[in-house]
Amino acid sequence: MAQFQSLPGFREFYPDALARRNHIFRLWRQTASTYGFQEYDAPVLEPLELYKTKSGDEIEGQLFSFTDKGGREVALRPEMTPTVCRLVGEKANALKRPIKWFSIAEFYRYERMQKGRGRCFFQLNADIFGEPGVEAETELIALLIQCFGSFGLTAEDFYVRLSDRNLWFYYLEALGLDEPRIRTVLSAVDRYEKLGDDAFKDYTEKFGPIAPELKAQVLAFLQIKTLAALEAAVASIPGDKLGARLGDWRKLLGNLSAMGLGKFVEVDLGVVRGLAYYTGFVFEAFDRKGELRALAGGGRYDSLIGKLGYNDMPAVGFGMGDMTFALLLEQRGLTPAVSHSTDVYAVIGGEAERAAAFADIQSLRADGFRVDYPLKEVAFGKQFKAAGESGAKLALIYGGEELAKGVVKVRDLGTRTEMEVPREQVSAVVRDFFSAGAE
Ligand code: HAM
Repeated sequence: MAQFQSLPGFREFYPDALARRNHIFRLWRQTASTYGFQEYDAPVLEPLELYKTKSGDEIEGQLFSFTDKGGREVALRPEMTPTVCRLVGEKANALKRPIKWFSIAEFYRYERMQKGRGRCFFQLNADIFGEPGVEAETELIALLIQCFGSFGLTAEDFYVRLSDRNLWFYYLEALGLDEPRIRTVLSAVDRYEKLGDDAFKDYTEKFGPIAPELKAQVLAFLQIKTLAALEAAVASIPGDKLGARLGDWRKLLGNLSAMGLGKFVEVDLGVVRGLAYYTGFVFEAFDRKGELRALAGGGRYDSLIGKLGYNDMPAVGFGMGDMTFALLLEQRGLTPAVSHSTDVYAVIGGEAERAAAFADIQSLRADGFRVDYPLKEVAFGKQFKAAGESGAKLALIYGGEELAKGVVKVRDLGTRTEMEVPREQVSAVVRDFFSAGAE
């Protein structure tokens, strides 16, 4: 039994696993860039205070927090949103709007471990600051969908559930609830899918038993799955807040349809998001088969920057994790084949030939070719085997006889053909070979 093991829920990435992770990050990064988002980064350790009350009870209870040697209360970041709000709030006047930013970073939550959930995980975060209208939601939901699409995932594999905390607020207000009651009902809605009727326990504890007709109205609203049903539900309610809000819904859904993305998006008022700071539209991505936990989540949070002590600024964004995403790719057979390929392998006769080989190897590497060679003297046969296994397309053979003539043998490992090349032309021959192959 080994002496040290990694902590539960913390992940180690051996080279094959890291290559798969890098592949995901590469495509996420590329996709975010094609939407005009700029990449930023920030500290992994933050003042504990940043997450207190801002992120919500659930995340607060999952913090990895401690007191540092200077007596500061600190926490490993459980999410990016409060941090990116600080970054934007701090330089708000200097930043050109709309601010479209993304990051790929690691987060830490002391969660109960289950499939697709760990205690450390990566997220792509994409956020737009400075845009109050649904144009920001349009852009972010489109980006979210393309982050799946660029891996070959389709509308049969995943979808986005769209909901709206504003609409919920206006609706519950129209039913006569005050703000504390509305917030408690919304957290029941958030948990209803998982807990059923038990989700209302909190409400009962705080305000006494929930009136049966109120509960029925909440459950009916929660089950709304189309814009038409939403329009019908809202039609009989007096006041114009709800009607005006439906205008935003039509605009957002219209924009997404115009982009050809209608088939990915479903109205679903059962989603309200557990985090404390959301203020308007909220959305979550799920696999169509319903086998995995949430793939991504986000929404509008117009008051968080203000809560951190800066001037208020509208904001919308989402976070998408790498763990459920990798599971989905695996289920659909879309995990990329991993290759740690080499371009050129140098086969070296003996110690006397090493100096010549080293000179060429270094100059090829400086030109950007991936070149490998045996660190120690080994038999030719073994070296050719290693050359084959390395994935190299070319072998350069440094034998005593050849070097005496001032040449190196260049073997095409694909066609198994060989030619002698004067040493000073080795670089040019290798370059020609790979540029011809690249066409
Ligand atoms: P979240 O819903 O807490 O939102 O997380 C977003 C995504 O991160 C989840 O859908 C999931 O893919 C992944 N995730 C969360 N917790 C874990 C975990 N323990 N293990 C593995 N993956 C996990 C947020 O974090 C918001 N800050 C997103 C956001 C950005 N809202 C606005 N901008």
